[in-house]
Amino acid sequence: MSAATALLKFGKPPETASKDAEQHALHPELSSAHVRFIGLGKTYAGQSAPALEGIDLNIQRGEIFGIIGRSGAGKSSLIRTINRLEQPTTGRVLIDQVDIGAFDEDRLVRLRRRIGMIFQHFNLMSAKTVWQNVELPLKVAGVAKAERQRKVAELLALVGLEHKHHAYPAQLSGGQKQRVGIARALVHDPDILLCDEATSALDPETTASILDLLRDINQRLGLTIVLITHEMAVIRDICQRVVVLEHGRIVEQGAVWQVFGNPRHEVSKTLLAPLQAALPAELQARLQPQPGSVDAALVLNLRVSGSERQAPELSTLFARLGGRISLLQGSIEPIQGRPLGQLLVSVANSPHPAEQIIERARQWATQVEVLGYVD
Ligand SMILES: Nc1ncnc2c1ncn2[C@@H]1O[C@H](COP(=O)(O)OP(=O)(O)OP(=O)(O)O)[C@@H](O)[C@H]1O
Ligand SMILES: [Mg+2]
Repeated sequence: MSAATALLKFGKPPETASKDAEQHALHPELSSAHVRFIGLGKTYAGQSAPALEGIDLNIQRGEIFGIIGRSGAGKSSLIRTINRLEQPTTGRVLIDQVDIGAFDEDRLVRLRRRIGMIFQHFNLMSAKTVWQNVELPLKVAGVAKAERQRKVAELLALVGLEHKHHAYPAQLSGGQKQRVGIARALVHDPDILLCDEATSALDPETTASILDLLRDINQRLGLTIVLITHEMAVIRDICQRVVVLEHGRIVEQGAVWQVFGNPRHEVSKTLLAPLQAALPAELQARLQPQPGSVDAALVLNLRVSGSERQAPELSTLFARLGGRISLLQGSIEPIQGRPLGQLLVSVANSPHPAEQIIERARQWATQVEVLGYVD
């Protein structure tokens, strides 16, 4: 949507319009942001600590954008400012360069139709059939019956539920319920879909099928998807960029392959730990902080990212470290087409002292962690 059509859809007070125009003349890259948070803060009534503070963030049109963070970090509060289910205390939210802060009820209703939302617990109406659940928001919006029927049939086909029109939510599996939730979120042809823990109640196989569906919708309909999850594998599998929140602030953001390949903040490292390879328990128990003898092996955790064309090359690592290198644990997987690897190795009998081995490993790996020594 161009700025001009955005204005037609949402309207905009003249004073913020000129301020934004000035900003975009200075920073043309911001004009492409679909959702933009500027100095956003939120403090709930009766709370002393802010739930969100100083959030500056751009979400680009058509991307799948992930939000992660510990429980209470402010993820839901942030996503809910996009459709103004939450009103920020400070700062602004721009959608297609339009500040939504000053919207009256009428414009808010129109805004919310442009933004679909799905939740962990599906929020379906138990006394209504699948068809009626999807049809309801169209009825509320006063859409004529023929058009409602066309739209509901089209969406139920899109989410693969043609055969469940007459079923009630209680007769559906979790994955099927979420498909109804997705169909319902798409009734007004939104250009943004917000997903707050949309796969958290699903088993891994169903999660994978819902992620396939979201990816398909993203590509087929060009929808911008903003996704909160506690499951790091979900971010790895479908997001292009990710932001990490802690105590209401951004602590890290970037391309998923970068953040996952080389997490810098402690929170990111902790959140990503479940995806990491760990030492076998028997070896872990034998680890010591200092070498017990001259023959002790140095145990290292190496992260490495290859390029789009080349996987990480082991011969270079071996030549650099010297001595006897044993592979204790390892994995490599593509994230956004880039091979990201993790190697747990022990190095014994190297001609180089430990500090030099670590330094030499740093020239090869993106991240080197010294785990200890084993005799
Ligand atoms: N309606 C509310 N009233 C008062 N405080 C709130 C309200 N909603 C959220 N909070 C507080 O704001 C902070 C952020 O909450 P939020 O729900 O955004 O976190 P979250 O990252 O989504 O957590 P979770 O992963 O558990 O869903 C928390 O400290 C929470 O207690
Ligand atoms: Mg939440």
